[in-house]
Amino acid sequence: MDILIVGSGGREYAIGLSLKKDDAVDNIYFAPGNGATSNFATNINITDYEALADFAQEHKIDLTIVGPEAPLVGGIVDVFKARDLLIFGSSKAASRLEGSKVYMKNFLSKYNIPTAKYIETQEYHEAEKFIDQLQEPIVVKADGLCAGKGVIIAQSKDEAKAAAKAMLRGESFGDAGKSIVVEEFLDGYELSIFAICDGVNYKVLPAAQDHKRLLDADKGPNTGGMGAYAPTPLVNETIYQKVEERVIVPTLKGMREEGCPFEGVLFIGLMIVNGEPIVLEYNVRFGDPECEVLMPLLKTPASELFYKAASGNLQNLDLEFSDKFAVGVVIASQHYPYKSAIPAEIIVDQSVHDELEDTYVAYAGVSREDDKLYATGGRVLLCIGVGESIKEARDKAYLLCGQVHFAGKQFRQDIAYQALHS
Ligand code: AMP
Ligand code: GLY
Repeated sequence: MDILIVGSGGREYAIGLSLKKDDAVDNIYFAPGNGATSNFATNINITDYEALADFAQEHKIDLTIVGPEAPLVGGIVDVFKARDLLIFGSSKAASRLEGSKVYMKNFLSKYNIPTAKYIETQEYHEAEKFIDQLQEPIVVKADGLCAGKGVIIAQSKDEAKAAAKAMLRGESFGDAGKSIVVEEFLDGYELSIFAICDGVNYKVLPAAQDHKRLLDADKGPNTGGMGAYAPTPLVNETIYQKVEERVIVPTLKGMREEGCPFEGVLFIGLMIVNGEPIVLEYNVRFGDPECEVLMPLLKTPASELFYKAASGNLQNLDLEFSDKFAVGVVIASQHYPYKSAIPAEIIVDQSVHDELEDTYVAYAGVSREDDKLYATGGRVLLCIGVGESIKEARDKAYLLCGQVHFAGKQFRQDIAYQALHS
């Protein structure tokens, strides 16, 4: 089978590695990929969806897998499907679950799926009135995609009003903030649960926990995610069952009723409040870095999972995960998330592959020049350890962190602390 992966981050690298290990897979292509994906696959530099579909046709690609949200929200799946090309991901209409917070909140409320009390509005005076009814802190969200920055947790009513005003005037997020959601603050702990969906059927993956803040003890600014581990002991069977019954089943049914069946990865961002799962947000793709810790736990061949999901055949999939744990630590560049850094050569100690079992590096922000890898900024790579316990997996991941070198590298020292202290 020949597979095309759309994207260039650690998430796509991890999907690629699990396909590389899969006997059913012959050739892997990345569009555009990064400086390290070219170690085991072919990078192609095409971004236009029609041109990518031409490529898939010409090269007889059997399956395309889309990693990031932007092409999904932009409609790549619709372009491929119109040409009968098999593709794993959500349609443009279904991707509104991530692309528009207003659409998502209205959907949740229409189908009685638990979520924070909210209003959506384009009018400041409505926002102001609702803010006055809420207790502090108050959450204000821009409707559109803002690269993870469109959510303000305001500590006071004045701050919430100022945030709402700036968004509605287009000052903070441009057009993405012309509609906003104002909602109550939920106090609990956060979880990400992923369900692979084919429109009708679904398979739930082990729950992963991300670490969004830059610094240890969850301090510092929000980032795309500084590390993750799975499965987390913070989820028990009761929570999985509640999430399936109250969230996943009604979401798939609701999306069918809306005329846009959900296919792809349903990423459910949850707040668990007094044991009850409440939906914070949906994304229509794998989390990054959550994907990098889930892929090594997958026992079912990755090609079978994605192929059956893309062809509406999930009911015939026996999805198996290993009973091990995986911990992934992001190594970011010096000034992340504030500004980019000067490219720095990456050196990985020779001993890594001989001495460490069940570890791997997932590369993200890297380029290649003269056969050397350079850190090009942002989240550069992840060190992943797999073990019989979270502690063993964590120790392996950190050992690997010590064996990867580039100027200015920064990473958190406490990934998986919640699981180890609970
Ligand atoms: P979102 O993109 O909607 O998931 O929001 C980004 C982050 O803001 C979440 O991961 C939470 O940490 C936080 N957040 C969003 N909505 C709420 C809420 N209603 N209550 C508490 N925290 C929230
Ligand atoms: N790690 C969170 C995300 O991918 O949105």
